[in-house]
Amino acid sequence: MMLKVEQLTYTYRDGTKALDRISFSVPNHAKVAILGPNGSGKSTLFLHFNGIFLPQEGNVEVLGIPVNKKTEKDLKRKVGLVFQDPDDQVFSSTLWEDVAFGPENLGYSKEEVEHRVERALKAVDMWDYRHKPPYHLSFGQKKRAAIAGILAMDCEIMMLDEPVAYLDPQGQDQLFSLLNELYQQGMSILIATHDVNLACEWADYIILMKDGRVLAQGGTELLVREDLIAQGRLRLPIVAKLFQKLNKDILTLPTTLQEAANRINQWLK
Ligand SMILES: Nc1ncnc2c1ncn2[C@@H]1O[C@H](COP(=O)(O)OP(=O)(O)O)[C@@H](O)[C@H]1O
Ligand SMILES: [Mg+2]
Repeated sequence: MMLKVEQLTYTYRDGTKALDRISFSVPNHAKVAILGPNGSGKSTLFLHFNGIFLPQEGNVEVLGIPVNKKTEKDLKRKVGLVFQDPDDQVFSSTLWEDVAFGPENLGYSKEEVEHRVERALKAVDMWDYRHKPPYHLSFGQKKRAAIAGILAMDCEIMMLDEPVAYLDPQGQDQLFSLLNELYQQGMSILIATHDVNLACEWADYIILMKDGRVLAQGGTELLVREDLIAQGRLRLPIVAKLFQKLNKDILTLPTTLQEAANRINQWLK
């Protein structure tokens, strides 16, 4: 199992219960979308997966490792988190230094750090910008720089909190082709989002959250279930909506553009 969460509860100091007895599990090597409206607890949940938060009640296991005081350091290395706002993450005076920060902290030799920084910056197509200060980069470039920082640590899981927020369409496409490449190379990827269209097209496993609880977990077919969509304060994916409008007898709504196109082609034949 990549993730195993049992009865996880988390209450902030001001008394806000952000997670309320959450349980779910996710198989290894998956593309996971944690989906839910604002305030449903997605970010709070993410902070448990790399040991920034430790469970107050309940248990969390990541890659078979229980999250606790003893394992938090190891988990920070294995599980990388790309924050929603890259300005919270990229702040050194050059991009190179920024990406080197993680591996330097892990105590790697100078040569190893250099090798990792080069590999990571090339992977996100930002090597030519290595001498630039991060605050001179565009939002999408900063986002890729934050990802490079995580790649340089050789994480096994990458989590991205609201990855498409404020990215232009090309930036989004670029980001997702990079994520798919990393997935092909063996990395597991988790995103937190309220974008059902994105989740439907990209994810193979969905955790649906609302008010600090898990409404449902499973494949993307959950996202065309109108009862769940209404309960989760989300919206049907646009391909599913289109099929609803086609006065045809449709038993199951499509979840991806490709599936919709295949069905339309069938009708046209
Ligand atoms: N530092 C904090 N202190 C108090 N309450 C918080 C804090 N961070 C988040 N919350 C509250 O916890 C709940 C879950 O928030 P969050 O995990 O950020 O949800 P999401 O990422 O799904 O929008 C919300 O009610 C939010 O207001
Ligand atoms: Mg959030």
